[in-house]
Amino acid sequence: MGVTAIIGLQWGDEGKGKVVDVVCERADVVVRCQGGANAGHTVVANGRKFILHLVPAGILRENVTCVVGSGVAVDLEALAAELDQLAEAGVKTSGRLVISRRAHLVLPLHKQADRAEEASRGGRKIGTTLRGIGPCYSHKYARLGIRVGDLLSPQVLDQRLSALRQALGAGPAGSPGPDLDQTYQYCQAYLPMVREMSGDTVSLVLDALGRNKRIVLEGAQGFLLDIDYGTYPYVTSSNTGVHGLVSGSGLPPSSIGRVLGVMKAYVTRVGEGPLPTEMEEPYQSAVREKGHEFGATTGRPRRCGWLDMVALDYACRANGVTSLAVTKLDTLAGLGALKVCEGYQSSGRAVPAFPSEVDLLAKCVPAYVTAETWDALGSPRRLDDLAPGARRYLDRIAALTRCRLGMLSVGPGRDDVLRLED
Ligand code: IMP
Repeated sequence: MGVTAIIGLQWGDEGKGKVVDVVCERADVVVRCQGGANAGHTVVANGRKFILHLVPAGILRENVTCVVGSGVAVDLEALAAELDQLAEAGVKTSGRLVISRRAHLVLPLHKQADRAEEASRGGRKIGTTLRGIGPCYSHKYARLGIRVGDLLSPQVLDQRLSALRQALGAGPAGSPGPDLDQTYQYCQAYLPMVREMSGDTVSLVLDALGRNKRIVLEGAQGFLLDIDYGTYPYVTSSNTGVHGLVSGSGLPPSSIGRVLGVMKAYVTRVGEGPLPTEMEEPYQSAVREKGHEFGATTGRPRRCGWLDMVALDYACRANGVTSLAVTKLDTLAGLGALKVCEGYQSSGRAVPAFPSEVDLLAKCVPAYVTAETWDALGSPRRLDDLAPGARRYLDRIAALTRCRLGMLSVGPGRDDVLRLED
């Protein structure tokens, strides 16, 4: 059946961690492909909550080899802390986790730069997670980055740091630039971890593909935060759609057999940028509280909005989504009123497609239809067990996106899931 790509279809936080964990029950290899410790993938397994930032969510399934692919921005400090937490919870990572030697490192100087850039934006902040992601990818594309594999040779690391020193020079207004001797020492401190865990992940995934192993690509963030196709500049600095999973894993595009798009039954956004269907009170607070809509990485309150079918349809078509995993349908139960945006209007005219310019998107007024509500979902085991309103809500999503329903999540645990396809 080919490789399964799992991506977020909205502005992140759709519940990808849980979906990856469920799919990995029947997988051999899982690959994180892009983004970095800005992600926070939550999985509740055996009564315990795990928030994973860099390690693939498949680590909680013993049968799975976990790969941090070439497109990931690797923060070794964050990774070490995550490995400690997993060890403390009794999760074995040694021999099961391979970090790409091609992946770029997020260095302390990138986190400093992220903070300084956000501070200098004044009223036009992006609202980044301050994890150094943008500055790390900037250096990657300027060919100034330090890669995981560079740590393995003191000469190579020296050369790479010299190139960086030359390019950065002194800091603004004659202030000293970043201390690259400190950066060298930082890299040295993580050398044992890199020696133990790094490898040629491209060969690893291509060999697995050749042996017909079941491979899952774990996306991070959501398509509307994509650097090329999202709401630029209010986006992250990587390709968050299926394109990013291909380039960040090293697998050929033709290997992708299934694109499972993860979507919440409503939308959320954390950080700045337009959110056309942002909810009014009291729904905003009710959904935030009931859905625990606070950032898994930063703890920031998420902005909540009604389901936006214009944005969802765009994400499904641009990624060739074959089936949908719908999460948090339970959060909408008992809300008393439900709206779904099925079109945008601007200056009294229908907007034909999801706008490419953020200023145009900010001017879009959603055209809502009212959806039937439902009181409680209970513990459905089949679609037919759902309340009629919930069933019709899902049927409408499938009809408008022309995608089949692949999975339904109705609660935080592994068992609160209906698998509707293999
Ligand atoms: P950065 O990725 O830290 O540079 O942040 C850029 C934008 O992407 C900000 O609006 C962040 O809030 C958002 N963002 C980054 N990672 C995530 C995520 O995992 N979930 C939701 N939003 C994210």
